[in-house]
This record gives sequence, C-alpha cells and structure tokens, in this order.
Amino acid sequence: MAFTLPPLPYASDALDPHLSQETLEFHHGKHHQTYVTKLNELVGDDKTNADLDDVVLGAAPGPEFNNAAQHWNHTFYWRCMAPAGGGEPEGELAEAIAKDFGSFGAFRKELNDTAATHFGSGWAWLVHDGSRLLVTHTSDADLPLRHGQHALLTIDVWEHAYYVDYRNKRPDYVSAFLDHLVNWDFAAENLRQV
Ligand code: FE2
Repeated sequence: MAFTLPPLPYASDALDPHLSQETLEFHHGKHHQTYVTKLNELVGDDKTNADLDDVVLGAAPGPEFNNAAQHWNHTFYWRCMAPAGGGEPEGELAEAIAKDFGSFGAFRKELNDTAATHFGSGWAWLVHDGSRLLVTHTSDADLPLRHGQHALLTIDVWEHAYYVDYRNKRPDYVSAFLDHLVNWDFAAENLRQV
C-alpha cells in the first residue's frame, strides 16, 4: 500500500484568521501531497506497508530521505495546531517545562526566537532527548527522529507555511502560532510516549 496524504485534523478554514484557508489548502493539498507522491515514486513497492519511521531512518540521503522526512514532518505539524489553540500547557508537560527551562515564559521565548531566526527553510522543535526537554531547529527536511530525539512539537518555518498570510514577516506567524494555534494537548500526549 502506498503512503497516503492524511486528512487535516480540522477544516481547512478552521485556523483562520491566523492561517488562512488558502494557506492550508496549498500547504496540505499541494506541498504535503507532492512529498507523498514523490515518496511513493521513489520507494515503489519495496516499502509496501512499511512504517514511516523505518522508511525515514533507512532512507538514502537525498530525495528519498527528503520526501519521507517531509511527509513525517507535515503529518506531525498539522496535529501541532488546533482551532482555539494557544495558552499554556498543563500537568506533566507544564512541570517538565518549568523544570528544564525555568519557566513557561523562558521556554516560550526560546522556542519563539529559535523559530523566528532559523536561517532558511526548516523546522523549530520541542523535543525530549531521553533525559530532558530541549528546543532545537533543523534545516530543510531534517528531523529529531534522525538524531535520536523524541519530537513533542514543531513549527514549520519554510516560507510556504506563512508567506500567503504574513509575507516575509515570519516572526508574526510564529507569534500567532504560539498565541492562537499551538496544540499543547498533542505535545503532552507525545511526552507521555517518551
Ligand atoms: Fe511545510
């Protein structure tokens, strides 16, 4: 069975006005779909029923890795947002953030600044490295899975994620993501699986 584009976990206009329907329809329906289509062309029948994590970890550097990883990253990214998201995490995740960053405010600033200033295309992440939470960033398609880290949350900072709505103002997109879209329940669920 070929890899397929997962549906968005909300309607394509559900994140408006922070991310428009046009952005989601192009980002999901065109960009993400293209990664899935190219991945299937590259892996063919060899990877029938393969787990995406295994395909990412076993992929040859270049197009096979890039398309597999971008399929993984985008599938994860959609779930990192929710209509009426934002606010602050609760429970174990809030406690872990306070322990490893000092405060939610310090953590938010580090994630915000990392996403806003990453040079070029890539991703900002909250990860668990096996002993603690960390804010990291990766370029192009690279992802925590390849570095032995467990992803809890990501922000897509490729221009295609925000250019329609924010033009070149990536910091405004990052602020809107953290203020209005971030899905802390999903990050907390990921922490419970570490
Ligand atoms: Fe993207």
